[in-house]
Amino acid sequence: MPLSLLPAVWIFSGVLFIAAIRGLASPQSARGGNILGILGMATAVAFTIFIPGIKQQFWILTALLLGGIGGIYFALRVKMASLPQMIAVLNGLGGLAAVFIALAEIINGSTAYLDNVLGLIIGALTFSGSMVAFAKLQGLLSSRPLIFPFWRLLNLLLILTILVLTTVFLLCPERELFYVLGVLGFLFGIMFILPVGGADMPIVISILNACSGWAAVGIGFSFGNVLLIVTGSIVGASGAILSYVMVKAMNRSLIKVLFGETGSESGATGVTAHQQARAGSPRDAAYLMENAAKIIIVPGYGMAAAGAQHILQKMARDLRELYDVDVKFAIHPVAGRMPGHMNVLLAEANVPYEDVFALEDINQEFATADIAYVIGANDITNPAAKTDHSSPLFGMPVFDVGKAKTVFFVKRSLGSGYSGVENPLFFAENTIMLYGDAKQITGEIVRVLEQK
Ligand code: TAP
Repeated sequence: MPLSLLPAVWIFSGVLFIAAIRGLASPQSARGGNILGILGMATAVAFTIFIPGIKQQFWILTALLLGGIGGIYFALRVKMASLPQMIAVLNGLGGLAAVFIALAEIINGSTAYLDNVLGLIIGALTFSGSMVAFAKLQGLLSSRPLIFPFWRLLNLLLILTILVLTTVFLLCPERELFYVLGVLGFLFGIMFILPVGGADMPIVISILNACSGWAAVGIGFSFGNVLLIVTGSIVGASGAILSYVMVKAMNRSLIKVLFGETGSESGATGVTAHQQARAGSPRDAAYLMENAAKIIIVPGYGMAAAGAQHILQKMARDLRELYDVDVKFAIHPVAGRMPGHMNVLLAEANVPYEDVFALEDINQEFATADIAYVIGANDITNPAAKTDHSSPLFGMPVFDVGKAKTVFFVKRSLGSGYSGVENPLFFAENTIMLYGDAKQITGEIVRVLEQK
């Protein structure tokens, strides 16, 4: 193929990537979107390897084979509940690839200093920041903000040092200085993510995702690769838009997430020691459900952890078919541990799309519901987000589940959720706690419902 046609092939791949993102926007078209993305990537890789002048094909193909095997192995083994960790690692590897390319370019005598240094620093901070995010999500590090003395001042000093040294490098491009900037980039990623708490982790992951795209853009400019520029821009722009959507969904400010208030502290939320929560049994719950006209199910992280989506779908179906109850599912934009977490699980369990509603479309319906069945969800129902200015969750939109006649919380204890904040709703008069594993409790309810 003539070299002059290559940019056209790359742009074709870019168009496939954009169509893929469009497809991923809705559960019905997501499978098609995924296939378009795979086609785009396969085209890009296949044509790039065989560009005339590219040497070392053996090593490239070997690396591709090893990476491919590793990717397939981990993708097949990863549990749904651990997908966010996997995304954090994949973001990080994108950043690390940018670091290696920037290093190779400088060692090979490239003079595109600004592009390379941008790719290096952004890639390095994306890698180390993503590894910290991975460790937090995996429970290897506490999800609470890990604050060190003078962290804001130190982070500011680090940013200034990076800016000054980058300017010095551009004026006097010494290779050693390039390496130092790489190390500072790695350090910045760590210092930047450690103080971020659990409640803000989704935003941080999508910012890091955007960073891995911008790192690729820097590298793409450094050796004039249209494909890297196009793909990096798509990842960077979509990651930035997703960060904006998440910031809005949690009513947070980007500046505060990165440099201000830390997102997770176990706060006092009006819960006092003498308050008692009322416990119920699956049998009581089933009885109330059989006699309800309208039930809204609110799934959260605990449903994913328990793998309760299939039995939950069965419960909804039984209630509809055996007892003529109007059953709806309500999904919060940050329920679970990644964007779309609950949608994916409910789709996997064949819950019809038309029964699934977004926060803004269903929140007013809790006032007319007989039962809110909150299964493995906590933070996304915490009323302190509306009433308690001192709560780290304050400002995040939450489901008004307390407005339903009866609220069932299915969880194993009175423990807090990801943000570490206690939920005063557990002690409300119309709340009944169903203590236990989400799958087991829902299974017991289904058994009672099916005894009709
Ligand atoms: P959480 O507030 O984290 O609450 C989940 C609850 O599930 C816990 O309180 C836990 O209580 C319960 N649980 C865990 N395993 C269970 C099991 N096997 N059976 C029954 N219950 C179980 O979840 P949420 O309401 O979905 O809110 C999401 C939180 O995660 C938000 O704070 C959000 O900001 C954060 N976050 C979201 C994302 C994205 S993008 N969605 C990413 C990272 C973080 P027990 O221990 O008492 O059982």
